[in-house]
Order: sequence, then C-alpha cells, then structure tokens
Amino acid sequence: MIIIKSQAEIKKIAAACRITAEIIEKLKTFVGAGVSTADMESFADSEIRRKNALPAFKGYRGYPASVCVSINDQVVHGIPSRTVKLRNGDIVSIDLGVVLDGFYGDAAVTLPVGDISDEASRLIKTTENAFYAGMEKAVIGNRVSDISYAIQEHVESKGFSVVRAFVGHGIGRSLHEEPQVPNFGKPGHGPRLKTGMTMAVEPMVNAGGPDVRILDDGWTAVTADGSLSAHYEHTVVITGNGAEILTKI
Ligand code: MF3
Ligand code: CO
Repeated sequence: MIIIKSQAEIKKIAAACRITAEIIEKLKTFVGAGVSTADMESFADSEIRRKNALPAFKGYRGYPASVCVSINDQVVHGIPSRTVKLRNGDIVSIDLGVVLDGFYGDAAVTLPVGDISDEASRLIKTTENAFYAGMEKAVIGNRVSDISYAIQEHVESKGFSVVRAFVGHGIGRSLHEEPQVPNFGKPGHGPRLKTGMTMAVEPMVNAGGPDVRILDDGWTAVTADGSLSAHYEHTVVITGNGAEILTKI
C-alpha cells in the first residue's frame, strides 16, 4: 500500500531530509585523499546526533554503520573501515539516511577524490542527469515506471548501464515503503503518481555491465565486471507542480 502523506507529515519528512542534506554537504568538504572511510563514518554519526536525529541505516537489517561509503567499483552499501583510505583519482559514493521525529530522509551523492578520469566524471554527471531526467517525468498522472524508463534511457544513451538489483522506494515513517522505484523498465506501468507521495529516487549506474555481486561482508555490492559505479539519490515529494526535492538545503 502506498501511503499518501498529509502536509504535516511532509513537513516532518522535509525536516529529516534537510538534516540529511546538510550533513552530506559537510561530508563533501571532508572528502579528500588520505581520509579513511571510518573517519567519514564518525563525522557523519556525530553530526546526525548533534542535530538530535538518529542514523537510519545503523542496525537496519544488521547494517553496522550510519553511512554507506562505496568506492570505485563498489555500487552501494560499502561499510566504513579504518583500513580503507580515499586516494587521488577515486570516486566515492556517500549514502546517508536519518530519522527525525519518526520520519526518514535518504540521499546519496558520488564525488571525485582529486583528479579523476574523464570516464569517471562522465559517469558521475550521467548519474545525476539521469535522476533529473526521472524527475521531469515525476508528475501527477504519470506512472512510476515513467520515471524508471526516463532514467534508463538517459543512462543507456550515454553508453552506461543501470543496476537492476537495487531500486528506489517510497519513504516516510519507514525507510522503505511502497512503491518500488526501479531505474529501468517500460513506461506506463506501476502505480499512478499522486500529490503527497514521498519517494527516494536513486539511480545506480555502472560504466560497464549492469550486474553486481555482494562481497563476503554480506553488504558491499560491487560491479561484476569491476567497472566503476556511481549513485545519486534524493528524497522527493510529488506535488501539483511536479516533484520537489526535499533532501536539499
Ligand atoms: N539508500 C539506501 C536504501 O535506501 C541505503 C540503505 S543502506 C542500509 O536502500 F544499510 F540501510 F541498508
Ligand atoms: Co534509498
């Protein structure tokens, strides 16, 4: 069942989203060669608590950290580690979720560390632009898969591929609600978009093929062919004026 949110509920989701966005902004300035992913974790975790919020991911199905940090061929769900340090030329995806007053916010971004290859920067840009291509279709009366199709089309037009194994999702009093929001599929399918629907739209894009595998830690998803991967996510609300991004400052 898709839960349509009231104005009061949307305000609360927006408050959680604002904190999510603010902390991601701070993490952006924190990222650089030599920084360990555990440093990013402690920074993110303390910032969340300083805002009187709670991490959405820690303990979710046993996930052990407050932020997911996924480097290069890691697609999503990278677990922060003392022994993993960012290096010049890496691309790093940061995925953060917070809970405030019972409501969730969820967002992700992929950043360059120092000087990156042209392919890596094209991949990052394409992933962001794919999200915005999806947003153009996130209008009342359209269906969920119109967003999915727009994302896939954009990505494939640039010669990259969309990950199928993970999808975007409704969000609200839970991190994951209906509907699922795939980044692929034929247009004109799935539920119709209505005012007050809140969703996390999150293209995951591989430079090579779409397949992923999970590392022995049980979480980290990597590309099957070792190619680079990028992730871009916002929590949005559907309005009479199209989709409004809530995870922004
Ligand atoms: N943005 C991801 C999602 O919505 C992050 C989940 S990580 C987990 O699915 F640790 F919470 F699983
Ligand atoms: Co999400």
